[in-house]
Amino acid sequence: MFIKGVGMTKFDYSQKQWWQLAFEATMEALEDCSMKMSEIDAIALSTVSSAAGGEHQTHKISLLSDLFKTHVPIIETPSVCAGGGVAFWVANRLNFNNILVVSGEKLVDNRSEITVDWILSAAERAIEQTEGLIFPVQNALVWQQYMKKYKATMDDLALIAFKNHKNAVLNPKAYFYKRPVSLEKIKNSPIVSSPLRLMDCSLSVNGGAAVIISKEKTDIEIIGSGFATDYILTFGREELHHFKATRIAAKQAFEQAELKPKDIEIAEVHDAFTSVELFSYEDLGFAEIGKGADLIRSGKVNLDGELPINASGGLKAKGHPISVTGLAQIYEVANQLRGKCGQRQVKPLPKIGLCHNIGGTGGSVIVHILKKIS
Ligand code: COA
Repeated sequence: MFIKGVGMTKFDYSQKQWWQLAFEATMEALEDCSMKMSEIDAIALSTVSSAAGGEHQTHKISLLSDLFKTHVPIIETPSVCAGGGVAFWVANRLNFNNILVVSGEKLVDNRSEITVDWILSAAERAIEQTEGLIFPVQNALVWQQYMKKYKATMDDLALIAFKNHKNAVLNPKAYFYKRPVSLEKIKNSPIVSSPLRLMDCSLSVNGGAAVIISKEKTDIEIIGSGFATDYILTFGREELHHFKATRIAAKQAFEQAELKPKDIEIAEVHDAFTSVELFSYEDLGFAEIGKGADLIRSGKVNLDGELPINASGGLKAKGHPISVTGLAQIYEVANQLRGKCGQRQVKPLPKIGLCHNIGGTGGSVIVHILKKIS
């Protein structure tokens, strides 16, 4: 399958409904490839929205039929933070000519505790959360295990946050566009769950993203598509300090693409927490196990480095509107391959890019590899 148009709204605290954000992103994607809605043969939708906005609309596919004035089949693949990636993975396997893959989330309204509770439904509610294992806590425990075993420090995580914030300053659609954050501010931000600080956490925002894929050849081919799952009980897993699902999904994608990690020229990595970005360097094969910190210390993953990671600003500084994230990663990599990223454009133009999208604390992982072919 090939990528035609891509679209994305600005990520912010806009109070539009999820479907308005999905609509705006779709219009941009159609315009991007000069297509009309009437040329779309099927739609894959992923959103977990409705609770946060108080809308409680469950028949979302019919709502989209109305919104887009279409009668094509629409399938829904809600899969929390991995929703966009799952929808893209499914669409890539559907037998239609032109497929719209779309997501919109109104995650944040004016009550932070609703957002936090709502995000938590992506983790195990009955056993772990009743013990206080909310997302930042789970991730802090995972990171503590990593630090016990390997040589990495909180300063390494600060460098990851700093890199992603610097990139977001150059991205007009990122929440932190033109709002620089100093390394000192990152290092002194409040502790959320020790040792993770506020500036180690992804930023919850609202937004939408859309991608049109097709059997017709375009300039970008989807050459690798991997998907793996893992137990919802994080602490029931064989290994706590890495995500097995990332390794499996990456292996599938690399095998399909007939490539090795060293062939990747740009990547969007799911930095739900800066710690996750660091050990995902290892799970994705960009660094040896235990050596992820070398990548950030050496500057290799900076915008002007050998392998720029999260040129968009990532979930940390562009923002993380749950299901939208997986498609926003495809949006970024496709635009980077097409040389359309303005001030944050990676040079020389990359030809091969990777997108890594996680659901929950490593409970589901999707990896895609895109190649510029003309
Ligand atoms: N990084 C930078 N700034 C952040 C931030 C973050 N992660 N989270 C919140 N802020 C900022 C907000 O933009 C806001 O700034 P403003 O006053 O200038 O508008 C301010 O801090 C307060 O925001 P609020 O939403 O009230 O923060 P909070 O204290 O309720 O939440 C966290 C902070 C860290 C708990 C929350 O961001 C969080 O839970 N993040 C992780 C999300 C998550 O787990 N996602 C799923 C991952 S799979």
